[in-house]
Amino acid sequence: MDDWTPTSWRTRPITHQPTYPDVDAMDAVAEELASLPPLVTSWEVESLKGQLAEAARGERFLLQGGDCAEQFGACTPEALTNKLKILLQMSLVLVHGTRRRVIRVGRFAGQYAKPRSSLTEKRDGVELPSYFGDNVNAPAFDEASRRPDPRRLVNGYERAALTLNFIRSLVGGGFADLHHPEFWNLGFVRHSPRASEYQSMVQRIGESVRFMESLTGISAGDLSRVDFFTSHEGLLLDYEAALTRQVPRRRGWYNLSTHFPWIGMRTAAIDHAHVEFFRGIRNPLAVKIGPAIDPSDLASFVEQLLDRLHPDDEPGRMTFIHRYGAERIEEHLPALIEAVRATGRTVLFVSDPMHGNTVRTDRGLKTRRFEDILRELELAIDIHAANGSVLGGMHFELTGENVTECTGGARGLSDDDLGSDYQSLVDPRLNYEQALEMALLVAEKLGR
Ligand code: PEP
Ligand code: CO
Repeated sequence: MDDWTPTSWRTRPITHQPTYPDVDAMDAVAEELASLPPLVTSWEVESLKGQLAEAARGERFLLQGGDCAEQFGACTPEALTNKLKILLQMSLVLVHGTRRRVIRVGRFAGQYAKPRSSLTEKRDGVELPSYFGDNVNAPAFDEASRRPDPRRLVNGYERAALTLNFIRSLVGGGFADLHHPEFWNLGFVRHSPRASEYQSMVQRIGESVRFMESLTGISAGDLSRVDFFTSHEGLLLDYEAALTRQVPRRRGWYNLSTHFPWIGMRTAAIDHAHVEFFRGIRNPLAVKIGPAIDPSDLASFVEQLLDRLHPDDEPGRMTFIHRYGAERIEEHLPALIEAVRATGRTVLFVSDPMHGNTVRTDRGLKTRRFEDILRELELAIDIHAANGSVLGGMHFELTGENVTECTGGARGLSDDDLGSDYQSLVDPRLNYEQALEMALLVAEKLGR
């Protein structure tokens, strides 16, 4: 690994980092974080890498999902239980539909920092720094709240630890019956024109769960063999670097802030700090790929990116999360598949059908339409198949609560309904019902 060190990124251009008024305070925080225990372990990271390698070969399917931005205030037992519940229920639907084992990865326990298109926000003539996520500043529109505070990184580390602790306990025992569709909240189903189709899918899932249980004597509600992994955008490199460690009896460095960090679309420039930092760690990595890359530059971008991040073609190391939007995926995805093929390396392709489909309502609210999200996923499945490739997973912004942030779905939420419970401070998420319905529809398509 030639000239890489955990700090070599500091010599590269960097974007989307907060400017801390007190640099010494940031250094003290980095030192404190570096002395604290890691949040995950290298063997968990390696186990996930092995599973991602299987997904890249079409033998497993990745389900990744959670909030656009977690908030410190939403670290509650209800919110976490509901998030785990929806991801588990979706994964059971997908196992049934795809006949593949599903890898469950949350966008949680560290998804506290956001890249923003504008550094500042203006309201009534007052200009303040944008809200960059709870790891950086607070959302309230006043000077004190918006001032970047490095102590928040310690709070974020602690919230991540609390989140993980609760999730590990839930998964480790007692979270029974989640795998039993007869206990799911399926009230929305009867609002759909496809109601009877949904009912029979859910019934079939229930039957196969009971069949497996009687065959193996193992209760499907017993989750002790279920893995749950964490992921977040690796945005704030001071934080990521402070939790990057060497471990006994393994070579190299592990980012032990999360199992599976990703590089966001806005920070994936080849010669910049993020690619430099992440090339040196042993975790599986994802990169978001969007329509901003000029098609004539795509092949060389992909080649250089894989030379840096994936030089050894190590199985499971590299995931591309494409997020083109339903309108643009047909124009861009075939070229991405071809560009990867030209390098001779293997990557896992995952569809993020959220970030290319964001629109604003007449009242200025950010939303996404259920039909657009579904259409991008369906197109992704078909385009991969037509190009001799495979879609190995899906990446969602979702929540287990019944918020009203995306439109459509069985209840037919309209733009006017969004006001009733819109909670996200950043991107709109699928709610519980929309997420489960999406899983039913995609599972059905994948099963065909
Ligand atoms: C996100 O995942 O919330 C995000 C900012 O995505 P992207 O980098 O794809 O825009
Ligand atoms: Co988002």
